[in-house]
Order: sequence, then C-alpha cells, then structure tokens
Amino acid sequence: MHSAGIDQVKGKRVLIIGGGTGIGLCLAEKLIKLGATVVVASRDLEKLQLVVAKMGANASAYQLDASDEQAVIQFFSAVGEFDHLVATIRPDHLTAPFNKTTPSSSRGAFDAKFWGQYYLAHHCLNNISKNGSILFTSGIAAARGYRGFSSTAAINGAIESLTKSLAVELAPVRVNTVSPGFIERSAEDIERWDMVQNLGARIPAERLGTQAEAAEAYIYLLQNRYTTGTILTVDGGELSA
Ligand SMILES: NC(=O)c1ccc[n+]([C@@H]2O[C@H](COP(=O)([O-])OP(=O)(O)OC[C@H]3O[C@@H](n4cnc5c(N)ncnc54)[C@H](OP(=O)(O)O)[C@@H]3O)[C@@H](O)[C@H]2O)c1
Repeated sequence: MHSAGIDQVKGKRVLIIGGGTGIGLCLAEKLIKLGATVVVASRDLEKLQLVVAKMGANASAYQLDASDEQAVIQFFSAVGEFDHLVATIRPDHLTAPFNKTTPSSSRGAFDAKFWGQYYLAHHCLNNISKNGSILFTSGIAAARGYRGFSSTAAINGAIESLTKSLAVELAPVRVNTVSPGFIERSAEDIERWDMVQNLGARIPAERLGTQAEAAEAYIYLLQNRYTTGTILTVDGGELSA
C-alpha cells in the first residue's frame, strides 16, 4: 500500500542540519508542534543545547560540521534511523563582488553548503526510511543575477541540479529543495530590506519573507508524497534581474 494520505510529519523523526537558528529553528519548532521528533545539528553544540531545552523532550542536539565528511559518517552512526533529513546550512562566506571574493572563501562556502548537503545525502541512505525524504536548501540567487552573489548562486544552482538527479536515483526516498528569497533574519531586519532595495530586487510582496513563511514550504514538501525533484521557491514573487 502506498503512503499517500498518511501524515508524513506526526510521529516522524526529522533531522535538521543547521536547525539551531533562523529558518531551520523556526521549522524545528513548527515540527514539534505538529507531533514530530526533531534532532538539530550544527557546529555550536552549546547554542543547540539552549534551543533544544526550550523545545522540550521531543528535541535533541548533536554537534556536526557538515563540511567534514568523516564527521557526517560518524553523525549518522550515532543518530540511527530517521524519516526526513533537512539541511538549512548557511555558510560563513561573506557576500562580496566577484573580483573581491577569494577563491578560498568561495571554496569554504561550497564546503559547508554544497559539500555539506552532498555528504549528508550520500551517507544517510542506510538510516533513512524508504517513505522518507531528503530536503535541501538552495536560494533565489540560483535563478537571478545579483551583484555580490556569484558563489552563492553557483552553490545554489549545484544543489538544485543535484536535487533532480537524486530524485531519480534515490526513489522511493523523495528529494526536494526549498529556495528561499530574501527572508528576515530578525524581526527588526531593516538593514536587510535596504540591501534588497540596493540590489534592485522587485518584490511584489514589498517586504522580506518571514522565517515562518519559509518554514511552511519545508513542511509542504515533507508532507506531500507526490513531490520529488521539486524546487519550491518562497520569494514574495521576486521577478527582477
Ligand atoms: N535568510 C535568507 O534570506 C536566505 C535566502 C536565501 C537562501 N537562504 C538559505 O536558507 C538556509 C537557512 O538560512 P538562514 O538565514 O535561516 O541561516 P542561518 O540561521 O544564518 O544559519 C543556519 C545555520 O547554519 C549552520 N551552519 C553553518 N555552517 C555549518 C556547517 N559547516 N555544518 C553544520 N551547520 C552549519 C549554523 O550553525 P553553527 O554555526 O552552529 O554551525 C547556523 O545555525 C541557508 O541554506 C541559506 O543559505 C536563506
């Protein structure tokens, strides 16, 4: 029997790599409310333990630098079986004009966000439920040309291409990606809105997205068994560039 119609979140175990802050944390909190068990993982264990303490008994924390392949292998052997893997890793790489971006900082960003997600998908396969899914994060820079976003664009484009191939190769495990547009990092994110205006972005919604709006896109892709190879954009209708 196929599992369409069965809740893909309630009672499921979801790993969120990068889930200690931002969109990933917002998603973790929503999933707990929907009855999932959540594991958040990233490099800063102290930060994760603080957020997990607020989320209650259905949340736990692991330390993981996803750019370290051996650490990813060890993480899966420690964490055991699960239903969904979500990655919301944001690299430390600073946005900069192409001629001011050093190849090594760009490579560092690839190591965290592209190779991190690649290693996670590659090494999770013995532990993931066959009814489960892998949910990557890309970003709107993959689809638009913005000054200062060359490395980000290349990483996000690579993730979206990987999504399509893995959806075919890893079935019945589903593989999807959320592509966020410009999302608030805090409630008072005025500087970020100014940055968006300076980039020349034209956003019909006329505001940044909220973390909750982005998190809802992840929940849709976790729940909907007829999505795979999907790139779901949440960008307020950003049409420019
Ligand atoms: N916010 C936006 O406007 C926007 C727009 C487009 C795309 N996105 C994408 O959406 C995702 C979430 O964005 P966000 O703004 O919510 O992110 P964020 O909160 O700034 O960062 C998410 C997490 O990434 C973790 N991280 C960084 N390097 C890591 C590594 N090597 N291994 C494991 N974890 C690592 C960090 O935790 P530690 O420091 O503890 O490792 C951090 O908690 C990212 O992929 C981002 O690129 C966001």
